[in-house]
Amino acid sequence: MNILAFESSCDETAVAVVRDGRQVVSSCIASQIEMHAIYGGVVPEIASRKHVEAITDLTKQALEQAGMEKSDIDAVAVTYAPGLIGAVLVGVNFAKAVAYGMGVPLIPVHHTRGHIAANYITHPDLEPPFVCLCVSGGNTIIVDVKSYTEMSVLGGTRDDAAGECFDKVGRVLNIGYPGGAPMDRLGKDGDPTRYELPRAHVQGSELDMSFSGLKTAALNLLHNAQQKGEKLDLPDFAASFGQAISDSLVPRAMAAVAMTGHGKLAIAGGVAANSRIRADLQAACGREGVSLYMPELRYCGDNAAMIGCQGYYEYLAGHTAGQDLNAYATRDISLG
Ligand code: KG4
Repeated sequence: MNILAFESSCDETAVAVVRDGRQVVSSCIASQIEMHAIYGGVVPEIASRKHVEAITDLTKQALEQAGMEKSDIDAVAVTYAPGLIGAVLVGVNFAKAVAYGMGVPLIPVHHTRGHIAANYITHPDLEPPFVCLCVSGGNTIIVDVKSYTEMSVLGGTRDDAAGECFDKVGRVLNIGYPGGAPMDRLGKDGDPTRYELPRAHVQGSELDMSFSGLKTAALNLLHNAQQKGEKLDLPDFAASFGQAISDSLVPRAMAAVAMTGHGKLAIAGGVAANSRIRADLQAACGREGVSLYMPELRYCGDNAAMIGCQGYYEYLAGHTAGQDLNAYATRDISLG
C-alpha cells in the first residue's frame, strides 16, 4: 500500500511516499528555518504562508522522486494535530483536496504518533508494546505504546518542553536557531560537571518533569556573568546544561520501562538527535538489559515519512476521515 503523506505542523513543509508503513520511497522537506531565524522563533503566520507556497511543488517532487504517478497512490495521510493551527490547516486542507481528487482514503495522523513511528523506519524489527520518550520543541512526554494505535501518557513535563529550553538558552548565547543542535555541538567536548544546574523533581509523580527552573537558572547564570563582566566557559556551560536535561529524561524513561515491564525503550522527536541524551540512554539501557531504539538523525526532526508510516497503521485500524476533517492545535496522543 502506497501512502502519500503530508506534514505542516510547524516550520517544515514535508511530503513523502511510504510503502506498507515501513519503506520510505521518497521524502521531501522544505525547511523555513532561515526565515524564522531572523525573528529568533517561529512566526505562525509566516509559517502558514510558507507552507502554502511550498506544498504543491513538494508534492510533485515527492511523486517524481518515488517514480510514481498519482494513480499509484492508495491513500493520503496528514498531520491533523497538534501544532500551530494555521500551519496544520494548510496541510489538512491540501491533503483533503488531494484525497478527494485521487479518490483515495484520507488518514488523519497525530504528529507525536508520527514521531514515534519514525522508529519503525530505522528498526524493521520494532513492534509494540514499548515505551517511547518523546522530546521535541513543543512537547516532552513518556508514552506507553501498547499497540500501533493504542497509546497513553505515563508522564511528561509540567511546564516547558526540553527542546524549548535548548532553544531559549541557545537564543541568549546567540549560537544559531533553533538552539538545540548548536548547543549539542558546543557542549560535545565540554565538562558536564563544571556548572551546577538544578534537576527538578515533581512531588508525588515519579515520571513527571519540570524544565522551567533549569531554564531560568541557566539564563540567570549567563546574565549574572555578563553583568559582572565574567566569561563563562561556553563548552562547559553547554555540556552542563545538556547533562541537566539528560539527567531529567533518562531516569524517568528507564523507570517507565521498569513500570510497564515492556523491556523496550524508543526515543522520538527533534531532541532525540541530542548526542548526550543518546549516549546516556545507551549506557542506561545497556546496564539494565533494556532494548533501545533510536531513529536515524534525519527522521528525528519533522518529516512526512513518519506520518506515512503511522498513517499505515491508523488505516489498518480503520482510522480514516471524511472531507469534514478539521485541524487541532492540541490533542491528547491517546485519542489518536
Ligand atoms: O520534533 P521537532 O523537529 O519539532 C517539533 O515538533 O517541536 O523538534 C525541534 C526541536 C527544537 O527545539 C530543536 O532545538 C531540537 O528539536 N533539537 C535538538 C537537537 N536537534 C534538534 N535539541 C537538542 N540536541 C539536538 N541535537
